[in-house]
Amino acid sequence: MTTPGSQAFARRDGQLFVDDVAVEVIARDAGTPLYVYSATALAAAYDALDRAFAAVPHTICYSIKSNMNLAVVATLVRRGAGVDVTSAGELFRALRAGADPQRIVYSGVGKRDDEIDAALAAGIRMFNVESRAELRRIDAVAGQRGACAPVTFRVNPDVDPKTHPYISTGLRTSKFGIPIAEALDAYAEAKTLANIDVVGVDCHIGSQIVDLQPFSDALARVRSLVGDLRNAGHRIDWIDVGGGLGVTYAEEVPPSADEYAAAVQAQVGDLDAEIVIEPGRSIAADAGIFVTRVLYTKTNGEKHFVIVDGAMNDLIRPALYGAYQRIEPVGLSKGAVLRCDIVGAVCESGDFLAKDRSFPAVETGDLLAVRSAGAYGFSMASNYNARPRAAEVLVRGERFAVVRERESLEDLVRGESIPEDLLE
Ligand code: LLP
Repeated sequence: MTTPGSQAFARRDGQLFVDDVAVEVIARDAGTPLYVYSATALAAAYDALDRAFAAVPHTICYSIKSNMNLAVVATLVRRGAGVDVTSAGELFRALRAGADPQRIVYSGVGKRDDEIDAALAAGIRMFNVESRAELRRIDAVAGQRGACAPVTFRVNPDVDPKTHPYISTGLRTSKFGIPIAEALDAYAEAKTLANIDVVGVDCHIGSQIVDLQPFSDALARVRSLVGDLRNAGHRIDWIDVGGGLGVTYAEEVPPSADEYAAAVQAQVGDLDAEIVIEPGRSIAADAGIFVTRVLYTKTNGEKHFVIVDGAMNDLIRPALYGAYQRIEPVGLSKGAVLRCDIVGAVCESGDFLAKDRSFPAVETGDLLAVRSAGAYGFSMASNYNARPRAAEVLVRGERFAVVRERESLEDLVRGESIPEDLLE
């Protein structure tokens, strides 16, 4: 299937390009390991969703957790995107990237007082509230600042999105949201609070969903809830349907933006409310690659290993979820295919980018590209094993820029000190 990102990562004379720049050229300039994003692919994915929802009032609140680089966020914000944030840090990044506060929504089960206050100070569109205890905190914090907080409740429709258990969120037993059956009581309480303004309803059932049915099932329940809420006198101006649309990592065939939008609109498009969507992966994943260089190859017993300079600290999805991501040599393929593990230098057996993968023979110095790495790649990176985090590059057409410098060794110890009086 042709995804919006796929034209941005094409081969010319066997060499992998991002837009009109050879990956080899970027890697020579910026070093490895390295994330490379295509502004063209980001814009194409955003525009496809925006067009798909054109028939209804809507806001696309890009889920910044998927890729929070300022240049990436700014690329989307300049096209009109709002932002879905889950922490004061994400809010700070969204604002720094130029997001309109009135197009920011704030989700997450554990909002702290200072985070709630920062969001009120910024004047965000709405809080997606995940418990009644949180509702009361928001009311208290808003009261202290003499503000009124716009809220929706994130309701948990109890549908199985049939995705990895770590990224399923809409089941009755998950930590997210409030059970849909308790929603009427929760909204009734919200109405009694002086500093709370109910403005809508929210729902997010999980991520990497490649089947429309769970979306339709969840939104059918939301639809019926909206009717009940309005009958009870609540204002529902906004229906936030969350994110979750999947991408092709291996053989999955996710719905297109148009199919997804049609399914959403079939359930909630005629309710006289503005639709908010919170896509992360479906915008960013196919707009980025992770580039890593082969350090060594070796064979232990029967097993072949390709050891690269990128590792689980840079890209944790394979280690954390057993996730599959396509990997290919950046240059011309050298023929003979071997079955191998592609692994990093971190001291954990779980540190792999690919397991038991048929892969063309490679040698020291070769560059490899991990595809669909624009979402949940760098944003989940860490400094484990005291590895500086990778650089990030944004490409647009024939031009590219380093949009996050590779971390230095000094960056690794920033903020640390050795308190002489506590040491012997
Ligand atoms: N809205 C809320 C409230 C969310 O929790 C999420 C993702 C999204 C929107 C965006 O979902 P998306 O459109 O990207 O599927 N690290 C995992 C994914 C975790 C998703 C967490 N929440 C991965 O690498 O697969």
